Amino acid sequence: MFIAAAAVFAQESLRDEAAKYGLLVGTAAGRAQLYSKNFCAVTAKNFSSLTPENELKMDYVARKQGAYNVKNPDTIIAWAEEHGIKVRGHTLVWHKAVPGWLQRSGWSKEQVHQFLKEYITTLVGMYKGRLYAWDVVNEAFEDNGRLREHSSFFQKTCGTEYIEKAFIWAHEAEPEARLFINDYDVEMMNPKSNGLYALVEKLLAQGVPIHGVGIQAHVTEEGALSFQALLANVRRFIDLGFEVQFTELDVRIKLATEEKLAHQAQIYRDFFRIALSLDKVTAITTWGTSDRDSWIPSAFPGYATALLFDALYAPKPAYDAVLDVLKAGPEKKLNFLFPGSGGTSLMLSRAMSALDYEFIPVN
Ligand code: G3I
Repeated sequence: MFIAAAAVFAQESLRDEAAKYGLLVGTAAGRAQLYSKNFCAVTAKNFSSLTPENELKMDYVARKQGAYNVKNPDTIIAWAEEHGIKVRGHTLVWHKAVPGWLQRSGWSKEQVHQFLKEYITTLVGMYKGRLYAWDVVNEAFEDNGRLREHSSFFQKTCGTEYIEKAFIWAHEAEPEARLFINDYDVEMMNPKSNGLYALVEKLLAQGVPIHGVGIQAHVTEEGALSFQALLANVRRFIDLGFEVQFTELDVRIKLATEEKLAHQAQIYRDFFRIALSLDKVTAITTWGTSDRDSWIPSAFPGYATALLFDALYAPKPAYDAVLDVLKAGPEKKLNFLFPGSGGTSLMLSRAMSALDYEFIPVN
């Protein structure tokens, strides 16, 4: 423990390096982590954005009908504020966080909309001026790029309309917050990211107050992440007019070896190069500070060690790689992947995705 604590204080700071270029470096945490001195020291030193991992989800906040359970999110947010860390709200509408009483309510579309409006207005309003961003809608898509018709309570009950309404209500409650749609497996161009692209393009054309696309980025070390494909995908959302954030980055490893940790560091390096170099990528959040608190081992048996700090809060090779990237500063060339203006890059990235995959209409 002493060794870990010594390492903590020897470190330079990710947040300070990133701040020179206006980039936020985030982590996720729950109330429980605040009891750890190492967590608090490492997080306050390295991160400038914090996402409550579970405590702002609907099944947590609205666990009991008619009541708002916000004691723990209040504590997390106050801790972050004390340490000059900005807070991202996560998440207003998610099919996996629907309270049991609501699922069993038998409510009509109008009743569910009425509840959603009241819930979003109250929760977002409660933290007005304190949360800089919200994941308004989380994981709305199936892997094939279609909206979740079967697995989402809100999609089933309200149809696609719940999405635009959620953004409108959140914006009314807090016009200053950046509002995101957030999803996983949308790092590169594929049917799911194409579905997401088609939806956000449509929402924008309708004047819906949506500002950002959250790319969760839960990836595997042995996966086939391509730097160029990630860059091209991020660029197409930016070219459409969106802000992009990597919102839940982790790189899980099966049976870590030195080589795999080095490869993991390379993947982290790729994400941070893009985040640092593209002005419209405004934050990059890892899904936790230390491997000790990561969701990975319980969700993916056999996988672990997905974050920047090990279980004793000592920095890993990935941490060093990220620090190197931040110290080196933005690479201007990444803003000009394709020759010509943003318009050219949009045309080209669209052409690339049309070649590989068919666009699937969202309605
Ligand atoms: O707090 C209770 C505890 O009282 C109880 O004894 C225990 C028994 O299972 O459960 C505890 O709650 C768990 C909670 O994490 C806190 O540890 C829930 O069961 C468990 O489902 C929950 O998992 C979270 C998951 O979302 C579901 O909400 C993970 O921590 C969290 O990392 C994960 O985060 C999601 C993002 O929100 C969206 N994107 C994917 C990402 C990973 O799944």
